[in-house]
Amino acid sequence: MVEQARRMRDLPLSGIRKMFEMAGKDAINFGIGEPDFQPPDFVIEAFARAMREGKNNYGPSSGIPELRAAIAEKERSRLRTIDPSHVIVTTGSTSGLYATIASFINPGDEVLMPNPGFVLYRPHTVLVGGVPVYYPLRKEFHYRPRVDDLRQLVTEKTKAIIVNSPSNPTGACLREKDVDYIVDFAREHGLLLITDEAYDTITYDRPHASFLGKYESTVYLNTFSKAYAMTGWRIGYIVADPALAEPIKRMNYHLVACPATPTQYACLAALEGPQDFVHGMVQTFRERRDLVTKLVKEVPGLDIVKPEGAFYAFCSYDHDVDCGDLALHLLKRRNVVVTPGSAFGDLGAGHIRLSYATSESNIREGMRRIYSTFEELAAGKKLE
Ligand SMILES: Cc1ncc(COP(=O)(O)O)c(C=O)c1O
Repeated sequence: MVEQARRMRDLPLSGIRKMFEMAGKDAINFGIGEPDFQPPDFVIEAFARAMREGKNNYGPSSGIPELRAAIAEKERSRLRTIDPSHVIVTTGSTSGLYATIASFINPGDEVLMPNPGFVLYRPHTVLVGGVPVYYPLRKEFHYRPRVDDLRQLVTEKTKAIIVNSPSNPTGACLREKDVDYIVDFAREHGLLLITDEAYDTITYDRPHASFLGKYESTVYLNTFSKAYAMTGWRIGYIVADPALAEPIKRMNYHLVACPATPTQYACLAALEGPQDFVHGMVQTFRERRDLVTKLVKEVPGLDIVKPEGAFYAFCSYDHDVDCGDLALHLLKRRNVVVTPGSAFGDLGAGHIRLSYATSESNIREGMRRIYSTFEELAAGKKLE
């Protein structure tokens, strides 16, 4: 057998995928990291039309000019000076993240990243020989980073900091003052600030606080995946100062040649069309957020900081039980898929993440089943 490259040893399958693969068809699935919606009809129509009109060839490697212009227009309220030269269309923000890290991180460079945090930050950093350095997101601070922690972790090897708001997995949203503190910190240490704002349209209680336009050394990552429920269409984008964007454009070309062409026309239609789809979806998520928060608080030994964005409920528990074992038990005995908090870093231990991108009736039934397990734990029963 041909041996895998050594770098593959550091790339386990994500804990979320593992859970997915074990789930039966009729399971209540709180594991899903995508909206349970379909893109609006007019967007699907635009996709089909683009293909019928022969827009099926390679396009410019940084994206079709019309879409880059529309993205620049959309983001102008955050970055006044934006023009299409700041914009790179990517194959989902996943490829944008990798292209950014691969363009700026040398072997041995340290990258500050959240713990618990989104599952791709570490592997993408490790793949290029970078060193992940985790900053804690703690329940007592509502899972928002503390600049004191960042100060303790920064060294002369620190090259970049990754921030993510609204957060996957915690649902926490940074305040404007958090953004300001982090920007001051990044500026003081000359760091590249990589901001993943994949869920910027999905906030419930206050307007989204963006890093875009706050600091010149920022690479802003966004995606059409979540806002328009088109995770499978794989279009995201980067906004960065043209000097920072230049190497990323070259890297993007070498990674993907160009983003898919007809899909970009669909994304253009999504941006230019009515946004009531997005508002309706966010309203549904808001109602589910309220429901899941209420139901979690009723479960003995389970607790939650009310999530403010994205569609994840990050629940902590009091029992001395490994969260992987708990997730496995819920899957095998209750037919409920949850993601163990440790899939997002060791500080996620003692948590389970519930995605509420599922129907209200599933939320009620799934929470009823979780309740039963926690009732048994409270009565001193061991997990099987
Ligand atoms: C925080 C965060 N960033 C980035 C992504 C990647 O999204 P995509 O590659 O579909 O744009 C996800 C997907 O779950 C995410 O949760």
